[in-house]
Amino acid sequence: MSKLLLVDDEADVLYSFQRIFDSPEIQLSTASSGEEALAVVPRLKPDLVIMDIRMGGMNGLETLRAIRQVDPKLLVILMTAYGTTQMAIEAMKLGAYDYLLKPFDVPKLKEIVNQALRAARDMRQTVSDKPLLETEDYEQGIVGRSEPMQQVFKMVGQLAATDATALITGESGTGKELVARAIYHNSNRNGKPFLAVNCAAIPEQLLESELFGHERGSFTGATSQRIGKFEQCNGGTLFLDEIGDMTPATQTKILRVLQSGTFERVGGNAPLQVDVRVIAATNKPLEQAVAARQFREDLFYRLNVVRIHLPPLRERKSDIRLLADYFLKKLARDGGGATKAISAGVLRAFEKYHWPGNVRELENVIRRAMVVSKGDTILPSDLTAEIAGAGGEGAAAGGATGTGGFTGPGSEAAAADIATLAGHLFHWARKDPKLKVLPAVERALVIEALRATANNQVQAAKLLGVTRATLRKRIEKFGIHRELNIA
Ligand SMILES: Nc1ncnc2c1ncn2[C@@H]1O[C@H](COP(=O)(O)OP(=O)(O)OP(=O)(O)O)[C@@H](O)[C@H]1O
Ligand SMILES: [Mg+2]
Repeated sequence: MSKLLLVDDEADVLYSFQRIFDSPEIQLSTASSGEEALAVVPRLKPDLVIMDIRMGGMNGLETLRAIRQVDPKLLVILMTAYGTTQMAIEAMKLGAYDYLLKPFDVPKLKEIVNQALRAARDMRQTVSDKPLLETEDYEQGIVGRSEPMQQVFKMVGQLAATDATALITGESGTGKELVARAIYHNSNRNGKPFLAVNCAAIPEQLLESELFGHERGSFTGATSQRIGKFEQCNGGTLFLDEIGDMTPATQTKILRVLQSGTFERVGGNAPLQVDVRVIAATNKPLEQAVAARQFREDLFYRLNVVRIHLPPLRERKSDIRLLADYFLKKLARDGGGATKAISAGVLRAFEKYHWPGNVRELENVIRRAMVVSKGDTILPSDLTAEIAGAGGEGAAAGGATGTGGFTGPGSEAAAADIATLAGHLFHWARKDPKLKVLPAVERALVIEALRATANNQVQAAKLLGVTRATLRKRIEKFGIHRELNIA
């Protein structure tokens, strides 16, 4: 559960927050002045503070400064009405995480809060390479005893002792982000912020301004000055995820900031100086991008000074048993249920399977099997045909259940997947009466089928179990062609 402290002297803001963040995952506390916030913070130890800038008594900026003295890592989001953005800029310079304009756009508010809570978790949950099953902290362990993982642990330790730039490579789901956080937690910057930017998730035009900020009017839509992550993260550690996805202009700026610590905001000409440690990650072979002239060679060498490569799970199969044990315990604890075991057949299947999604896939497979399995042991019949088949024992006998449209092998598993999904969807539907679950699901499934088949309508229709004509009608009815850019 995350603890959120809201500081505002207006009662109706407090009230609307209570409505917006009415969730079992969030514990909302309130303070009606900066002074009160300062009194509350040491006791409450919130994960995130959301605070108005204009308050009677101490204003938001003064309070932020004072909070920084007590806890330099506590994330603070400032709120401001239109017209006082300059204050918000000052706040960002003082190390606020973000700022919000009143009145709120609720989805945006939720998104920023979720992002910040994630960043808070990144900073607070220590990552350790100790054998975790012996400790209480299952949260952030890097599990693995295989030779390649021992090498990784050593490198993490060495890197943590320095300020060097690091490049972490490896396929998707191998634990790159986990390793980045481990370096941070073990470094002497662990008292300062750790911020993560996913370079692939941010549209190209916005990435540069996300990283370096921009001056007002520097491009259409830049209605006010913005402070970028490098500035915000001064003194701390910046994790640049999916670094392969950057425009040449951004690459040039990154190179410069790595070499000299200086950069300019987009549209600005005053050089700014920062002290930021960069840890970069990529699941793409950067060497190839360099050869294809998509990635600057000099930047590659600058990043590649120290490199940690995470081998795919299929190349460290001796870790599978340990990881499976770890996830069984962790997921049981998170879900509040009893710990289940896996049968020898399941372990055999796990060791034979090729794990294209690596550790993340293993975690998901176990999560799903825990839901599907009936007794206290997970059996090969609780796995999908693809994975169980790897063990040579065949999948669940399955058969028609008679309760719905799912037949054949895996029918029980499919039904369980749907039940899990339904639980989530109904949760949202209860919160938002405007959400029409069935049409929304139908629309989303059509989109997913088209994505999964690169817009091949014949294949998508087959996946969905409808005729191509039916699929076309749905595409039209839901206006999907516009969204996916198809005829
Ligand atoms: N060695 C490990 N021990 C325990 N958990 C792990 C390990 N490696 C990965 N995980 C877990 O697997 C999931 C994926 O890891 P992570 O996000 O670090 O992967 P990634 O390499 O950054 O993947 P992507 O390239 O897709 O972003 C996370 O939930 C992480 O906690
Ligand atoms: Mg990642």
